[in-house]
Amino acid sequence: MIKGGVAILDFGSQYNQLIARRIREMGVYCELIPGNAPVSRILEMSPGAIILSGGPSSVYAEDSPQPDPAVLDLELPILGICYGMQLLALHGGGRVQGGFDREYGPARLFYPEASLLFDGIEDGLQAWMSHGDRVVQMPPGYSAAAHTDSLPIAAMADPVRLRFAVQFHPEVNHTVFGDRLLRNFVFSIGGLKPEWNMSTFRSRAIQHIRERLSHGGRVILGLSGGVDSSVVAALLHEAVPDRFTPIFVDNGLLRKGERESVEETFRDHFGMPLITIDGAEEFLGELAGVTDPEMKRKIIGRVFIELFEKAAGRIDGVTHLAQGTLYPDVIESISFKGPSATIKSHHNVGGLPERMNLELLEPLRELFKDEVRELGRELGLPEAMVSRHPFPGPGLAVRILGDVNREDLHILRQADRIYMDYLHESGIYDEIWQAFAVLLPVRTVGVMGDQRTYDRVIALRAVTSTDGMTADWYRMDLEHLAKISSRIVNRVKGVSRIVYDVSSKPPGTIEWE
Ligand code: XMP
Repeated sequence: MIKGGVAILDFGSQYNQLIARRIREMGVYCELIPGNAPVSRILEMSPGAIILSGGPSSVYAEDSPQPDPAVLDLELPILGICYGMQLLALHGGGRVQGGFDREYGPARLFYPEASLLFDGIEDGLQAWMSHGDRVVQMPPGYSAAAHTDSLPIAAMADPVRLRFAVQFHPEVNHTVFGDRLLRNFVFSIGGLKPEWNMSTFRSRAIQHIRERLSHGGRVILGLSGGVDSSVVAALLHEAVPDRFTPIFVDNGLLRKGERESVEETFRDHFGMPLITIDGAEEFLGELAGVTDPEMKRKIIGRVFIELFEKAAGRIDGVTHLAQGTLYPDVIESISFKGPSATIKSHHNVGGLPERMNLELLEPLRELFKDEVRELGRELGLPEAMVSRHPFPGPGLAVRILGDVNREDLHILRQADRIYMDYLHESGIYDEIWQAFAVLLPVRTVGVMGDQRTYDRVIALRAVTSTDGMTADWYRMDLEHLAKISSRIVNRVKGVSRIVYDVSSKPPGTIEWE
């Protein structure tokens, strides 16, 4: 466990991951901890400051999440945000009241006097409000630190006990001074230092892996060539080079040149004892004639586990399985709101460690995606691998609508490569969170030369996003679209029409299946 930094008690606000992002961006470690966790859990990380997050409940509601009262007595600076402010008021002996109109949107903030929290922030700047209840009477020791035209206590402070609270959301961009406010809290009030960076993380993670394997044993990893598993591989290779075996399953559903690039990077460049499993026959055989997307995912997940287990069984002394789990997955699974409903079953290898009776190593559990990319650069992975768009486990099978066969894979691979090459060439690849081509199961009439054609349709998808949970379609320049379209139609036999997907998520998902 990483020590120090800020403990963010999570009371369920949709903005909580943003608070964590903001603080990490300042170079300070932080963790989201369920809001009702016992004080002992919070002390485990030895935080230097605590934030009580916002949340959708009313503090008086019977089932509202409440902090362990001992947390509020800790001699650490505390910042309450929205619901967190109301908790501080309630538990300190003040009064919170509902029944006002819900206030959602921008408000201008004014300060009656100078305060540590608002240091360097001008009067009249915009803050973002989202609340129904409000504090109507402050607890003893507090004074009002900010007000708006309609809200007399928009922030309150007890500078002696270092308790601060704001009704608005400093973590969202619409609060124009939010970053400065959080910096004031973390650095000036909390006295923390910007010591969190990927170089120190790297050495700590390596030390941790060595400790976990100090009694011997061997680690295996399912390497996919994506950013997360690649970074885990590079870390393990540095930590325990003689006791680490990466296994790469070529499921026959990969993009053009992908297998070669994985083998070149990990086997040739890093010198890892990479095992490649040639699984195309098995996967394509089992997928033949299957058109239902969930069925495809289930089959791919099952065959992957079978082949992976078989390969692992041939390696002596395996004790640990490494996985590239990231922090957003961890937050999702510990949140008291519970994991969100399954829309697509993404986790292809769920259950594998238990089945194989292996200990799990998840060295990236504390990191956000952009931190993983930074760590990858730090570990010397090629930039093209580190800045790659995400690629789904079931690969091209969920980008060929309808049944999956070798001919269609060949068409899609060529079209996708032309599309990706163009995005790189034109310098827009990094503006896009994820882009890919989809092969549709329809034929349309066209004319090439003097010949009538009856060929396939390729849909191009490009989205912007921060985490894949929501996404907007990328506003691609029409000239770019024109060039990509004519290149694909001219070079890929069997394709005569190109369309561009202009759906956001929701209501669409990123992948078409
Ligand atoms: P959707 O399509 O659900 O995708 O909006 C969100 C992100 O997840 C990826 N994705 C998958 N990843 N196995 C994976 O490992 C899957 O079955 C799967 N389905 C979608 C998708 O590429 C996007 O980045």
